[in-house]
Amino acid sequence: MNVHVNGITLAYEDRGTGLPVVFLHAFPLNRTMWGAQQRALSTRYRIITVDLRGHGESDAPLWHYTLDQAADDVRGLLDHLSIPHAVFVGLSMGGYILFAFYRKYVGRVTGLVLADTRAQADTAEGREGRFQMAQTAYKNGAGAVADVMIPKLLNPTTVHTRPDLVQAVRTMIEGNQISGIAGDLMAMAERPDSTPLLRRIACPVQIIVGEQDIATPPSDAKLMADEIPGGRLAVIPQAAHLANLEQPEVFNRIVGSFLDDIEKG
Ligand code: MLT
Repeated sequence: MNVHVNGITLAYEDRGTGLPVVFLHAFPLNRTMWGAQQRALSTRYRIITVDLRGHGESDAPLWHYTLDQAADDVRGLLDHLSIPHAVFVGLSMGGYILFAFYRKYVGRVTGLVLADTRAQADTAEGREGRFQMAQTAYKNGAGAVADVMIPKLLNPTTVHTRPDLVQAVRTMIEGNQISGIAGDLMAMAERPDSTPLLRRIACPVQIIVGEQDIATPPSDAKLMADEIPGGRLAVIPQAAHLANLEQPEVFNRIVGSFLDDIEKG
């Protein structure tokens, strides 16, 4: 399905009924990374997945991207679906967007799952890395971005033993336009430090991290859990950055039980 928001077309899926749960994907993937979560959780909940601006089947305009703008796009989607508030699940860049969303639209948030993400802004070195990645994308295409990213997204055992999963991730990355990849990199490089926000988060929060995540390591997850009042932390063994893809059953169990607790009130 498509919706026109903020001057662009976004592609999304809306499955199941009940408590609405909106899933925001990682950089540089798309909504299909949530396939296992959509299948397992839409039997009990209303699961909404969206290709963020610049990704998958959504428009990827050549212009300046910000995470606030991505948050505005998500709000536009909620308005279109007449959803006043929802639980949000964001992995990595999806989590960065959730901090922006929470700052702007706190009244629309029933709960947050912050997976394989971090509250801190980029370091100077991190920003330089974004610049280099944008040049790689521009000069050599999305395939070259996949070559650099895959070892950071999946644990080495997965890379060697799960060619199906590696290919699925590669296909998602290569399906993105360069305008979207570069736009995201600029948006992430400019994002503010969200650590001061953590203490003010007042909704239920589940934090999840893959034990072998080198992109946003367990220490970043622990910092969020320590600062967010009542924040719960789950560490998933044998998973790296894309914990939902590497260990879908464990990930689904954690998210499912968090959603059950929210429903029970
Ligand atoms: C992601 O998975 O969204 C990215 O690794 C985030 C980042 O590069 O900081």
